[in-house]
This record gives sequence, C-alpha cells and structure tokens, in this order.
Amino acid sequence: MAKRNPGIDALVRDVLILKETEVPAIVAYAREKQVDFAFIGPESPLEAGIVDALETAGISCVGPVKSAARIETDKAFCRDMMERNAIEGCPKYRVFHSVPEAVEFIGGYDGDLVIKPIGLTGGKGVRIMGEQVDRNGAIEYVKSLNGEAVLEERLLGEEFTLQAFVDGTHLVPMPLVQDHKRAFEGDIGLNTGGMGSYSMPDHMLPFVTGADYKKAIAIMKAAVAAMERTGQPYKGILYGQFMNTARGPKVIEFNARFGDPEAMNVLSLLTSDLTEIVSHIAEGSLLPSHVTFDAQATVCKYLVPEGYPDAPLAGNPITLGPHNNALLYYANVEKNLGNLVTMTSRTLAFVGIGETLEYAEQAAEQAASEVKGKVRHRRDIGTRELLDRRIAHMKELQ
Ligand code: AMP
Ligand code: GLY
Repeated sequence: MAKRNPGIDALVRDVLILKETEVPAIVAYAREKQVDFAFIGPESPLEAGIVDALETAGISCVGPVKSAARIETDKAFCRDMMERNAIEGCPKYRVFHSVPEAVEFIGGYDGDLVIKPIGLTGGKGVRIMGEQVDRNGAIEYVKSLNGEAVLEERLLGEEFTLQAFVDGTHLVPMPLVQDHKRAFEGDIGLNTGGMGSYSMPDHMLPFVTGADYKKAIAIMKAAVAAMERTGQPYKGILYGQFMNTARGPKVIEFNARFGDPEAMNVLSLLTSDLTEIVSHIAEGSLLPSHVTFDAQATVCKYLVPEGYPDAPLAGNPITLGPHNNALLYYANVEKNLGNLVTMTSRTLAFVGIGETLEYAEQAAEQAASEVKGKVRHRRDIGTRELLDRRIAHMKELQ
C-alpha cells in the first residue's frame, strides 16, 4: 500500500493514491477535480498512455504521448530513431530479438559490450561485459531477456545530465547536472537510482567544454526535430544522459521525464514561474526567455536505508537534526505516529544552494550528517576532491 509522502502531504489540498498506471481512474479523478493540467513524473504511466488519455479528456499535460515516450520506454526505438535521422552521439549498436543471434554476436565480440533490455527496468537493467560480467555472464543475461536487447559499444568518459523543457518544437535547456549512481564513496558498489548530484553556478560542468555543450544541445534539438518530422512530436521534459568521451558527448539514453535526483538541482534554482512554463509547453509557445535560473551552485545528497540498494533495512525510525541551510525533499519515507520511518528505497534528500560549490556542499552535508537512524549518504558528492578527479579523468581520456 502506497504511503502519503510527508512533503507532498503538506502542500496538497486533495490527494488520491493509486498505482500510477491505473489510467482510467486517474483520468476520472482529474476530471472530477477539474484540474488545469497534469505534470507526469515517472515513465511507467507515460508508457501506459496517460497523456493520450488525459488529453482526450481535455486536460493538458507536461509529458509525451505514449508513442513519443518510446524515446525512453523502447531502447531500440531510440537508437533506430537516432541512426535513421543521422543524429550525432549514437554509439555503435545492434538490436536483437532472438537468443541465438544475440549469443552469437556476444561470442564473437571483441571488447567491452553494454547489454540493455529493450524495455523499462527502472534504471537497473544495464550490464557491462568486461566490467560487471564476463562473456558467459553476458550470454546468461541475454538469455534471461529472451534475446530482447540492445547491444552497444561501451563508452568511456564522464557522465552528465542535460534536462530541457520541450513544447513539441522548441527546446529550452536547464543547467547541467552530474548524478552519482554508485552506492558508495569513490564510485564503488552497486548501481542505485542515484545517490546525489551537483550543479555549478555557471550551469556548466568543468569537464564539459563549450563545444561539448553545444554538441549536446544540438543532439537534443535534432532528436526533438526528428520526433516532430516523423509524426510523434515530443512534449514534456526531455532528459539527456550523456557520456562525455574523448570524441565529444555521446548519448547513453534519453528519458521522457525529469531525473531523480537531478530535478531537485534544477527546480531549486528556477526563478521563473513553473506554471507559466507549463502553459507555454501546452500552447507550443515556449521561448528561452520564459525560463530563468539562479546563478548558484547546488548539491543534492540522498539519505538511503542501510543496506540499500540490494538489502535495504526498511521500517526504521529516523530523526532529523538542524537543516536550516538546506532544502528538504521527502522521498520513500512514511510518517508513522509523527515519526519518520524508512521504507525500501531512497529516503529523503537535502539540497544545499550557494554562491560556490563548497558552500552548497557544506550545507547539504551538514544537514545529511545530522540525521540519526539506520540511514547513510555519500559524503563525497559535491566535494572539490571528487570534482578534481572528474576533471583529471577527462584530461586523461583526451
Ligand atoms: P541506463 O539504465 O541506460 O541509465 O544506464 C545505466 C548506467 O549504465 C549508465 O548510467 C551508465 O553508467 C551505464 N551505461 C549505459 N550505456 C552505456 C554505454 N553505452 N557505455 C558505457 N556505459 C553505459
Ligand atoms: N538519475 C537518473 C534517472 O532519474 O534516471
């Protein structure tokens, strides 16, 4: 049973909790409440056609219709769309729908190979042959996927996130963010939903040059143009996950929504009115002047249950300490008789904002380290030391 999120609870006038893919019930609720618009958070309702159904009911949405959400929900569609339209930044890839063919390809492949299930996996479906699994492990993995996989070259570099508002035609970018997927300090441990993220006062990242940035924007714009040309105009938030390589930025994947945690970095800096942006997205009249961000740094740190992600200790009470210098966002946590109690996924996040990365990091770190209970966080996110390592890694590759 889903729980009421304490952060959302404090802000809403009315709430209905159900599975996010129960489209008819959601549409009925939106109609009954006469909502002006819907902002779709996660990808599974997009795949279930929630935008198609809401728009049929006359409710405008920030989020793509089902056919356009395939940019995220169908990895084969995404790569083929990039290739057919000669969009830069597409790694060498092959789509498979058969176990014997995929197995044969893996058997003869020389080098590191990335194996991606074609459909949604909640960010946990990628296996890298040469790092996480050997050739036999890779073969077992594609068998477990019934041969439905995209196999692609492994990209080496530094990852960054570029999110943008898109109205079907126009794209307006948000500040660059770097997420941290691995569970532990120093980027070790299992992949997670994201342990935290940071952004810089100039909205760039020190290992992304101006030329790299222009290329990444051009790739996103080319994808939006291709979607429009082929009759699936893309409307909503477009999330580009890039690998900045020695040959410039390459697309790891597109998501049809905000990133979590990256949404917290950028929305905390937004100085323009989100509802106006939403209206412009609905009308197809979005301009860069509608979207402004504070020129500050942000650092977001997630607290997660001990044992997360593979063996999370749920059901433990936590107590917050002083956190006046950071924003607090509740995630997978419930309020039980006034106490905050952990569940199985990421618990809550603190976002520090400041003129410098150092200030933002200290604000988030101080709030996070004051939390008592069976939770932990990554102390290194947003630190100068980690940033210097990223810069050095990029230099080394070039
Ligand atoms: P995804 O589920 O597509 O977000 O991928 C999860 C993680 O797998 C990414 O954050 C990357 O670290 C890694 N990954 C995905 N595709 C590639 C690739 N072609 N080369 C290297 N790493 C990749
Ligand atoms: N932070 C990665 C994601 O939301 O997919």
